[in-house]
Amino acid sequence: MKKAPLRFHDFAQAAESDPQAMIQLRGVVKKFSNAAGEFTVLKGVDLTIHRGEFVSIVGKSGSGKSTLLNMVTGIDHPSEGRVVVNGMDIYSGVTESQRSKWRGKNLGIVFQFFQLLPTLTLLENVMLPMDYVDMYSFDERPKRAMELLELVGLEKFAYKLPALVSTGQQQLAAIARAVACDPPLLVADEPTGNLDTRSADTVIRLFEGFVAQGKTVVMVTHDPSLTSRTHRNIIISDGEIIDETISKCLPQLRHRHMLEFTKIAEKRIYQPGETIIAREQPVDYFFMIRSGRVDVVLLDKQNQEYVVSNLGEGEFFGELELLRGGKAIANVRAGGSQPVETLIIPRADFMRVMNESPVTAEAIAGIVQERLEQRRTEDRRAGNGIGKQ
Ligand SMILES: Nc1ncnc2c1ncn2[C@@H]1O[C@H](COP(=O)(O)OP(=O)(O)OP(=O)(O)O)[C@@H](O)[C@H]1O
Ligand SMILES: [Mg+2]
Repeated sequence: MKKAPLRFHDFAQAAESDPQAMIQLRGVVKKFSNAAGEFTVLKGVDLTIHRGEFVSIVGKSGSGKSTLLNMVTGIDHPSEGRVVVNGMDIYSGVTESQRSKWRGKNLGIVFQFFQLLPTLTLLENVMLPMDYVDMYSFDERPKRAMELLELVGLEKFAYKLPALVSTGQQQLAAIARAVACDPPLLVADEPTGNLDTRSADTVIRLFEGFVAQGKTVVMVTHDPSLTSRTHRNIIISDGEIIDETISKCLPQLRHRHMLEFTKIAEKRIYQPGETIIAREQPVDYFFMIRSGRVDVVLLDKQNQEYVVSNLGEGEFFGELELLRGGKAIANVRAGGSQPVETLIIPRADFMRVMNESPVTAEAIAGIVQERLEQRRTEDRRAGNGIGKQ
């Protein structure tokens, strides 16, 4: 029997067969129309987030972050593509009310502006989701809500209305409400956007605690001090996801350049021991390491090889040769026992972006300087005497 090409309806099955995936988006397109016509906000997003990951999402205002989260929560629906969350294909054959119940049990949502019901006490606000999806017995609900308020340090304010506590405390209550039904996934849209630094820190520490329990947390934020605390940072630029190897290797690059590199980059895989760059040969690409390790190898006076450095995921090489326009001064080869996966950018594209992005060029120049010095020192140590030039 001829095997049919993989279609969207096969994707849900594939997703179910990947038990580690909490969120899978494939080819997600979102279009909006307004008076000026139709415009595309998400341009074919593919993204997988695994169980237990703490993920931050960043991007300029209007880049599509909230729209992306709304695709995951089922608050809005994609124009095209597939979204599987916690093993469920949330837009296929599911009614709005089924999706709403499913959401109540499977995910907690936290917004920038808390959205607590103003006429209910904090305790009642936290009980609301349990009532809605009918989880926990009627008698258990207030007890559980109080425990959650204790968890976020608000037990003393349980019987107060939201307006009578600080904004930071309102957000903590909203977080208690989001985890009321013990969902495996927490999605937060700029949860600290309206908070002072101290309250923001409390929020992140709570999130870290949820992650430690095995929950998945996905958070949109503008705050770089928070992205450094997550496992993984996803950048969205103009409705498209930037390749994470590129943002890790070149964090100073402007988002539009990262996106350009995402589109240009090609994948190259090298087997252990294989030469990637040969000494004395011209170098035509800038290499970024996605996985595996590479050895940078020099020769000593006796023509004996020695490893001058060992680079891994999120590091790059080839820049030295590209920027100096010369031939390779070292051999670079796949080290370790695993294949090395790289992303490569052709020389002309790399040089153009460096010219357009002085901050990145400067950062790379700093690394080039360091590496040159390291190599010269190593050369001298090896007695080659070719260090001075
Ligand atoms: N319901 C809607 N109808 C029409 N256009 C929309 C709608 N929602 C969002 N947009 C547009 O889609 C684009 C992306 O919006 P989105 O809210 O996802 O951006 P964002 O990255 O979350 O920005 P911010 O950082 O300002 O929150 C914007 O141009 C916005 O105006
Ligand atoms: Mg937004």
